[in-house]
Amino acid sequence: MDSVFEQLLEDIHSIISSSYDRDYVCDAIVQLLYDRIPYYDWVGFYFMKDEALVLGPYRGRSTEHVRIDIGQGICGQAAAKGYTVIVDDVNMEDNYLACSLQTQSEIVVPIKVSGVVVGEIDIDSDTPKAFGIQDKSFLEEVVQAVSRLFRHDYPEYFAKFKLDVPEYFNFACDVVDRRADENDKQAMLFVDRDGNDFSYSFSDFKRLSNKAANLLRKHHVRKGANVFIMLPRIPQWWGT
Ligand code: SME
Repeated sequence: MDSVFEQLLEDIHSIISSSYDRDYVCDAIVQLLYDRIPYYDWVGFYFMKDEALVLGPYRGRSTEHVRIDIGQGICGQAAAKGYTVIVDDVNMEDNYLACSLQTQSEIVVPIKVSGVVVGEIDIDSDTPKAFGIQDKSFLEEVVQAVSRLFRHDYPEYFAKFKLDVPEYFNFACDVVDRRADENDKQAMLFVDRDGNDFSYSFSDFKRLSNKAANLLRKHHVRKGANVFIMLPRIPQWWGT
């Protein structure tokens, strides 16, 4: 990640750990983003309230869009989808709410708690195609950190939460193996009782879980069987 983003993340983490006051923290974050990234020309938070997005702290030109319905504009679309939306050229969008005529591109990153959208960060730029993969990963880390401030609302969101369970899903193949194939990185730093540390990547876990699955298969264990695995908290435990 770009060193500017890395430094910003560090600063944002220290702001977040300094206070539980959501408005104060979000205000400090918009200030920081607005000041430090030259092409972030409008930076603001929207918070979910009564099934709509309500404008929170922001920097940049004033906007008439203080309340946005779900599905409406880029912000409403990102809230409905629950994932980051990048628009390279807002002039090409039909479902777009103009904040200012100078705006050319936009990124909206939802903040989620337990899978439920609780708000979002919206950034406009006067430069066309201003937002790339670096901005996306950076801002997704920011919202991940910010989401902690929303957790006291947990019971309310928990009541609304509905788990979307796909018909066919295998955590080992669909998450760990995919990660190993597409974006292999350190998955675990294991420290044993003597203080020695060991690094495990996603591909190490892929290998471990394949070994475990092959062993079970050799013993004729098939899908649907009930298996109890008893191991201490060692990496092989996660592997199985
Ligand atoms: N452009 C946004 C509206 C918010 S303003 O840009 C601040 C949208 O289309 O949802």
